[in-house]
Amino acid sequence: MQLLDGKQTSQDIQQEIAVQVEHILKEGKKKPHLAAILVGNDGASETYVGAKVRACEKVGFDSTLIRLDDSISQENLIAEVEKINQNDNIDGLIVQLPLPAHIDELSVTKAIYPLKDVDGFHPENVGKMTLNIPTFLPATPAGIIELIKRYKIETEGKHCVVIGRSNIVGLPMSILMARNSYPGNCTVTLTHSRTKNLKEICQSADILIVALGRPEYLTEDMVKEGATVIDVGITRVKSDKTKSGWKLKGDVDYTAVADKSSFITPVPGGVGPMTIAMLLKNTLTAVNGFDV
Ligand code: GUN
Repeated sequence: MQLLDGKQTSQDIQQEIAVQVEHILKEGKKKPHLAAILVGNDGASETYVGAKVRACEKVGFDSTLIRLDDSISQENLIAEVEKINQNDNIDGLIVQLPLPAHIDELSVTKAIYPLKDVDGFHPENVGKMTLNIPTFLPATPAGIIELIKRYKIETEGKHCVVIGRSNIVGLPMSILMARNSYPGNCTVTLTHSRTKNLKEICQSADILIVALGRPEYLTEDMVKEGATVIDVGITRVKSDKTKSGWKLKGDVDYTAVADKSSFITPVPGGVGPMTIAMLLKNTLTAVNGFDV
């Protein structure tokens, strides 16, 4: 079993980004600038946005965190997005999800200027991703792709099973793994809550990407010997053993599954840090433009 070390890989990528920022500054250009909108005070979202802002500082980006009350109207939230769209000093914008129930996430996502949409959630960018036109790839799937690349995991002709069809992870992941380039060329099965015989489907997977948000859902009996297992779950559970009072649990029963797998991501220290690295990379791309 080989650990897919997202923490180390994320640090490597952040180092590469920091070098590029130095070049940008030497050319007399301004620092890349990421803005994040956080609505309300959900503990998990606070943690994730806080980590994104700290990562910006580490690589030499400017960042702006806009905190809005969870009673904000959809109209006023979209007005905030518009302000950032118009602000030439800001290169990338994310609106942390989930949003309060009275706000339609798609309407807000559609309001983001696609060339500042470093989360890659705007329908225009999702369409480009699907058609393999250069664009911002959503950060979590992009992070998984990057891990597969850097660890040179074979994907061609492999059976990739994705559990969970969210717009943020499962759905884009299934599209990327089926693309006609490396890492891709997989035969992809996208499974979800209505899937029948999930255990049997998982047992035939060469690559398993688990993103359903249920702690330790994937058990050893669902995994083929030698499979690659990517755990996207990060459920916060109460713990009296940590300073914060919380600990993160993945969707994979790690201890049992690790012995059977060829490659596996830990939680924490797997996919989570990669998401942050790829968000920064997308922000740099927002500055430099796409290679076409
Ligand atoms: N909520 C969970 N993951 C993400 C993400 O990658 N981006 C945003 N904006 N919100 C999220």
